[in-house]
Amino acid sequence: MYYETAEKLLTFIRKSPTAFHAVDTMKNILAEQGFQELSEKDYWKLVPGGQYMVTRNNSALIAFSIPENAPHRFHIMASHSDSPTFKIKENPEITVEKAYVKLNVEKYGGMLMSPWFDRPLSVAGRVVVSENGEIKEKLVDIDRDLLMIPSLAIHMNREVNSGYAYNPQKDLLPLYGTAGTEETFGKTIAEAAGVREEDILSHDLFLYSRTRGAVWGAEKEFVSAGRLDDLQCAFASMEGLLSGEKKKSIAVHCVMDNEEVGSGTKQGAASTFLKDTLLRINSGLGRTYEEYLMSLADSFMISADNAHALHPNYTDMTDPVNRPLLNKGIVIKYNANQKYCTDAVSAARFKDICTRAEVPFQTFVNRSDMAGGSTLGNISNTQVPVNTVDIGLPQLAMHSPYETAGVKDTYSLIKAAELFFE
Ligand code: CO
Repeated sequence: MYYETAEKLLTFIRKSPTAFHAVDTMKNILAEQGFQELSEKDYWKLVPGGQYMVTRNNSALIAFSIPENAPHRFHIMASHSDSPTFKIKENPEITVEKAYVKLNVEKYGGMLMSPWFDRPLSVAGRVVVSENGEIKEKLVDIDRDLLMIPSLAIHMNREVNSGYAYNPQKDLLPLYGTAGTEETFGKTIAEAAGVREEDILSHDLFLYSRTRGAVWGAEKEFVSAGRLDDLQCAFASMEGLLSGEKKKSIAVHCVMDNEEVGSGTKQGAASTFLKDTLLRINSGLGRTYEEYLMSLADSFMISADNAHALHPNYTDMTDPVNRPLLNKGIVIKYNANQKYCTDAVSAARFKDICTRAEVPFQTFVNRSDMAGGSTLGNISNTQVPVNTVDIGLPQLAMHSPYETAGVKDTYSLIKAAELFFE
């Protein structure tokens, strides 16, 4: 069952090279399972027993299921759709000495840069086109090996292995083709989008690694792919939503965008997207604002974003006693400064969920001399104040375009999500 889950996860990731694609992939799966799509622009007609989904910016998605008896409390699981990458800039083509065409890109989020070199890359995202006088969004994925960021040979910088400060404007521009090529970048994008080049008004396009996901190791205990942070959690949350019984609370699967750049956008965790959606569910069920506040006080959120496992070559980077291991279960994340919003109450509730779901859990705290990362739980809490636990699945090489996790852990989180959504 672990392997089946891992293969399903890798398929999900392959179909989801950008946040836009992740939302589209989830929408297709949820629609097949009977979730009805709502628009923020329309009135919502909600009925007990109904299952719905809504997107914002086509890069964030909230799906929810209202049980027949329409309980008040919300059980929310939040994750994120974006990952660090490079965004294609405007007027991206740069011709080099009448020989090459390379693309101008800028960083999106805080990535490890060196793993982006010397591997096939491609481009995906959305274009906005003018079609019969209307402005429309179209998803694009140039589903072939298209770009490469070649390293400088060791002979030209003998010192590189002693540490190198990458300059994103100089070192990280991907090679696209030969100067004078008729297959301009605009033309390639237009063909992939199935539109005329002159109809493309604008774009949000990103690089992604073409390296296929893999299950590997002495006992096939590891799984590697791009975007495990945080599609592994988004996938587990969605699977838990689909298989859970969803009878005792309003189940909410929430996937936000822009976590990697601080969440401060209309579709990020700092936005009103979750709050607006919960308020509309509340009013859709004919309830007052006071009843909404009563519901929140009785609600619970799992903020699910991947965690750092103990690294085999850098064991000293992990806290002396809280040392998450791959395949040893869901990681509960703690931080005294509330970068993670886990407290004694929410940790206890989550441990109870894991125990009842019969899945292992472990704990993570940063070394006291390291700042560590942040995530979406505490940011979301400023809009939607519900008791929240920060958790994640243990992984290595976070923010590399090829990350590594344990093959068993996705299954554990699906089981916990399923019980949470019962
Ligand atoms: Co993350």
